[in-house]
Amino acid sequence: MTDALPLVDLNASLEKQTPFEILEYAIDHYADLAISFSGAEDIVLVHMAKQIDPQIQVFSLDTGRLHPETYQYIELVRKTYKLNLEILFPDAGQVQSLVNKKGLFSFYEDNHQECCGIRKILPLQRKLQTLEAWVTGQRKDQSPGTRANIPVIQDDKHFAGAGRELTKFNPLANWSSRAVWDYIRANNLPYNPLHDRGFVSIGCEPCTRAVGPNQHEREGRWWWEEATKKECGLHASNIDK
Ligand code: ADX
Ligand code: SF4
Repeated sequence: MTDALPLVDLNASLEKQTPFEILEYAIDHYADLAISFSGAEDIVLVHMAKQIDPQIQVFSLDTGRLHPETYQYIELVRKTYKLNLEILFPDAGQVQSLVNKKGLFSFYEDNHQECCGIRKILPLQRKLQTLEAWVTGQRKDQSPGTRANIPVIQDDKHFAGAGRELTKFNPLANWSSRAVWDYIRANNLPYNPLHDRGFVSIGCEPCTRAVGPNQHEREGRWWWEEATKKECGLHASNIDK
């Protein structure tokens, strides 16, 4: 359910609030809401949301290609927070058909869109059909090319589906990476051990690598592709124009 206030005005007001307050607003106003947890520094959202609603719904998209460290970390988070966590899987037939036709690493040749489509986007789309709102850990500073203007609250027309409304919250949009890591350390939150090995932005194992000094975090993702294509479609509204 949305407020009577137009979303753009609501965004202007929520922009001034803290991530915790934004989450409180989201949880108070939407009954069918879930956090999309990638197994990286978006732990901050899980930690805050659990304080607001201990039953908060969380989901992770298991592409089948995550790092072993990420699987272990997701499980650690599930147990530590006694989390109401749903793991979403891709359609086995679609994965089999892609892999049997094009091999296990087609994304290095074709680009990542087809594989991401099957392993992430379709499972996400199915999940979002059951929700009124979803919450992501996206931040403006994660990708100057595609995320610099993300709002705190948005009408997610891309995933809403025919005749439905879907709201997307990005409570960390205005936090810097530094602010996120200060919060993780100050609250002694568990984090993915890959972060101590030079991985900043973490996705699937074959499509993620560590970055060096002064490299932007996005350079560790799909590094063989142009910077402008470095969205997998999970956040398609960032590039819908
Ligand atoms: S991606 O689109 O490039 O893969 P990114 O890794 O920056 O996204 O993460 C941004 C946000 O997208 C995360 O904070 C999380 O909300 C969501 N997200 C990304 N990957 C997953 C995943 N595997 N499962 C659930 N949510 C995810
Ligand atoms: Fe496939 Fe790579 Fe996309 Fe993961 S990030 S779904 S392995 S193309």
